[in-house]
Amino acid sequence: MNAEGAIGVFDSGLGGLTVLREIRAQLPGEKLIYFGDNGRTPYGSKSPDTVLRYTLQDVNFLLTKNVKAIVIACNTASACASATLREKYDLPVIEVVEPGAAAAVKASVSGRIGVIGTAATINSKVYEKAIYRAAEIAGRTDVRYFGKACPLFVPLAEEGWWDSVITRMTAHKYLDELRGSGIDTLVLGCTHYPLLAEVIGEIMGGGVKLINSASVVAQAVKDRLKREGLLNASNSRVNGPEIDFPAETVQFYTSDSVAKFRELGGKFLKSGIESVEKVDIEAF
Ligand code: DGL
Repeated sequence: MNAEGAIGVFDSGLGGLTVLREIRAQLPGEKLIYFGDNGRTPYGSKSPDTVLRYTLQDVNFLLTKNVKAIVIACNTASACASATLREKYDLPVIEVVEPGAAAAVKASVSGRIGVIGTAATINSKVYEKAIYRAAEIAGRTDVRYFGKACPLFVPLAEEGWWDSVITRMTAHKYLDELRGSGIDTLVLGCTHYPLLAEVIGEIMGGGVKLINSASVVAQAVKDRLKREGLLNASNSRVNGPEIDFPAETVQFYTSDSVAKFRELGGKFLKSGIESVEKVDIEAF
């Protein structure tokens, strides 16, 4: 492993691109490799064993690209596999749950914190544990966790229906009860959900802060690489106002249609995608 290597980032599909965008913004000198397992998405409705098996294959693929660190840009994979990955591999593995939980505890005034995520993430209770752990570290005893699985949000986000009537109706069904619980902070515990943030925010009301962990995760990546002496020296170069994804710096891979990845992924990134290749992920 050396500082010149790329950072490998993966998700079950396109949601992790919200994290990739932040990493690119905060670490403009790093080479990035993104894998989206679009052929097998969603992970969130699968069993923990299946998610673990898929995740190991995703990481095995990224390791063939000689990455210096892995970012699990998926809450579901973080929930089901981060402990195994950290045990099994000898390179930095950064997940998304802990940074999001810590940011929520910091942001909440009332201590009433909601988390929405896939069924696998919510059922795993990783957020509940991470939030109470973060509260303990912060010396707070007033924190209370409220979780809600919102499984239909992922297909709605992948379909590009970020602000449709159907999305609004679905969001009401999931969120009305959560709003009634009086939370003041809501963690978007799935990397697809930032795309639906406008609708979610509207339903929750202005008094509820939404936590999109992408930027705190990017900061965690930076801190970890620095600690390990793996930060690329050229990070001092500053991106222009536009965050771009040139092929010589960022390579994209998907286990499904390249054309669909390019089209929808570009919308997630708010930028064109230059290079995408298809991967037979079952071979890894
Ligand atoms: N983006 C993933 C997450 O953060 C989940 C999407 C899925 O269900 O595959 O949990």
